[in-house]
Amino acid sequence: MTKSARSKSDSNQTLLRFQIPNTWDETLVALLEAQGLGRAVAESTYAPGALASDAEDPSRACEVRLLTSTEGSKEVVAIVQSWFEAWGLNADQWCIDQEEHDATETDSEALWQASWRPFRCAGYVIHADFHPREGLTLRPADIPLTLFAGSAFGTGGHASTRLALKVLTEWCKDNPPIRLLDVGSGSGILAVAAALRGVKEVVGMDPDPQSAPQAAKTARANGVGTQCQFWRGGYETARGTWPAVMANLVADLLQDGARDLAQLVAPQGKLFAGGILDVHWQATCDAFASKGLQLEQKLERGRWRAGIWFKP
Ligand SMILES: C[S@@+](CC[C@H](N)C(=O)[O-])C[C@H]1O[C@@H](n2cnc3c(N)ncnc32)[C@H](O)[C@@H]1O
Repeated sequence: MTKSARSKSDSNQTLLRFQIPNTWDETLVALLEAQGLGRAVAESTYAPGALASDAEDPSRACEVRLLTSTEGSKEVVAIVQSWFEAWGLNADQWCIDQEEHDATETDSEALWQASWRPFRCAGYVIHADFHPREGLTLRPADIPLTLFAGSAFGTGGHASTRLALKVLTEWCKDNPPIRLLDVGSGSGILAVAAALRGVKEVVGMDPDPQSAPQAAKTARANGVGTQCQFWRGGYETARGTWPAVMANLVADLLQDGARDLAQLVAPQGKLFAGGILDVHWQATCDAFASKGLQLEQKLERGRWRAGIWFKP
């Protein structure tokens, strides 16, 4: 693929466009943010106003955009190139375009808003409150789920959240669990998604002070406010046992919390654990196995791994 660069000398911002295979976009967005390189958006999959199928097509290219300072852009490009190499992507699978940009202070947020498009995942149509539902072309089986801008994690754009939504849909297909615990509920996306599929009692907690109010607002806006309850706190504040537990966290938290998480799962119950980079998969499996949980299914998306564990 070609590598191109256009310049405008009076600009101090550069828009970097990374074209990469579909399903790697979420890993790139998450890593850029985790490394403090900026808030990127995956501007890929769907044309405005059209909701494409959620069928996965790893051969389809997608684009991740990042607005960065022109001064720092070379370094960002070098870092990202080194990731692509480390991930084993061939040179013909990716391309980086750079476009100098006359930016205003609000550009980054505006870029994010403009790029945050409704998308389908596991039968849900995830959209922001600034996308009116009347403008969505819904299919009869679609379940629309409205999210709000906020700092709590969980727009559904992250690979691990998508894997979690797929598992929820599967769990709720014939016989939804009556109660579900959402550990690290963030924006409330998983809890609300569960309630929308018929789970009667959904409880979520997150130490992020923004999370509980945002999640409660999301639940109310989606008509499931009375089924959902959220509070501020870590997994150690959860009580009781649950037939279904979602823990979309990160690998070290899952490993450190394996004992607590295993205790929260009722006998014959299931735990979904996600947010695990491939290199941390085995250690996470070992931690859960040592607490008596049995791995039932492994899920993958890009470099992200997740699993379903069963408690005998
Ligand atoms: C990867 S996000 C998941 C958010 C959302 N559930 C989703 O699936 O998109 C992980 C969340 O775990 C929260 N978290 C961090 N430490 C935690 C802990 N000790 N116990 C519970 N949640 C924690 C973070 O604040 C963050 O919101």
